[in-house]
Amino acid sequence: MEAMNKNMFYKGFIFILAVAFNACNISTTTESEISDSAKIVSTNGTLSEILVELGFEDNIVGVDVASTYPASLKEKPKIGHNRDIASEGVLALGPDLVLGIANVVKPEVVEQIRAAGVKMVLFEHEYSVEGAKQLIKAVADSLGQSAKGDSILTALDADLVVADSMIEQIENKPKVLFIYARGTGTMMVAGQRTQLDKMIELAGGVNAVQGFDDFKPLTAEALIAANPDVILLFDSGLSSLGGIDGLLEVQGIDLTNAGKNRKVVEMDGQFLTGFGPRLGKAVLELATKIH
Ligand code: HEM
Repeated sequence: MEAMNKNMFYKGFIFILAVAFNACNISTTTESEISDSAKIVSTNGTLSEILVELGFEDNIVGVDVASTYPASLKEKPKIGHNRDIASEGVLALGPDLVLGIANVVKPEVVEQIRAAGVKMVLFEHEYSVEGAKQLIKAVADSLGQSAKGDSILTALDADLVVADSMIEQIENKPKVLFIYARGTGTMMVAGQRTQLDKMIELAGGVNAVQGFDDFKPLTAEALIAANPDVILLFDSGLSSLGGIDGLLEVQGIDLTNAGKNRKVVEMDGQFLTGFGPRLGKAVLELATKIH
């Protein structure tokens, strides 16, 4: 299979072997061929990073707003964000192939794109070290670039060893609260089954909020009850609040340990939440900042 992929790619074709998962997690296999000048739309920042590492940057004709790395992607036309992605914006770019993460793009949007005759491939993406590796491998294999995929995985493993050796030496586990902010009007905390929960754990901390999945609006009561040692935000989120001084004006923040000690950590959003090729580096940076 691998040999066939390579041959077909170098003959001028990308051979798509896509493993699509349905809602029950039963996998089915679909295959198709597209030319190597194919126009690709990526609906996810991590898929975009992987595409670029595999050498497909020039094929990308549109990306979601979280496709911020490498910085050159910021110049590409934008098609929205997570569940706000609409088929019209994607189809207007005339893609041959659209890539997405299962259960992130709305099912009706997937249907509309496919009904327009455009190939849309969905990948599973679990927020774990294994999930990051599986995604990289699945994307690389599906585009006939298994060898490049392997070298991304080797580099990722090396980064993870460095991060682990630092984290092993740490004994205390700070309570970390992640706040997703887009100005004071949109402030959400990250519960379980989120990229943030898993990143905090990988970096040797504990999520300060427990007992719910996904994101929920921040409330002063929950903030005070959680009493985090560290508050973590995207750098864009912190600046949308006016920096640390602005964050401290949000009700309840000044009553937490993090607020009293101004222990506020910011990181680039896609770097922190990507669970892709830069995962090891992100774990190391987060660990260094929260401890
Ligand atoms: C209420 C839900 C959300 C809203 C309204 C929202 C809104 C936005 C907006 C407007 C941008 C563009 C910002 C800019 O260009 O400066 C953005 C970027 C981004 N969003 Fe979201 N978002 C939401 C949920 C999420 C979630 C759950 C995640 C993942 C944890 C996420 C991850 C990102 C990332 C990585 C970026 C890239 C730019 C950056 O780092 O700020 N967003 N979001």
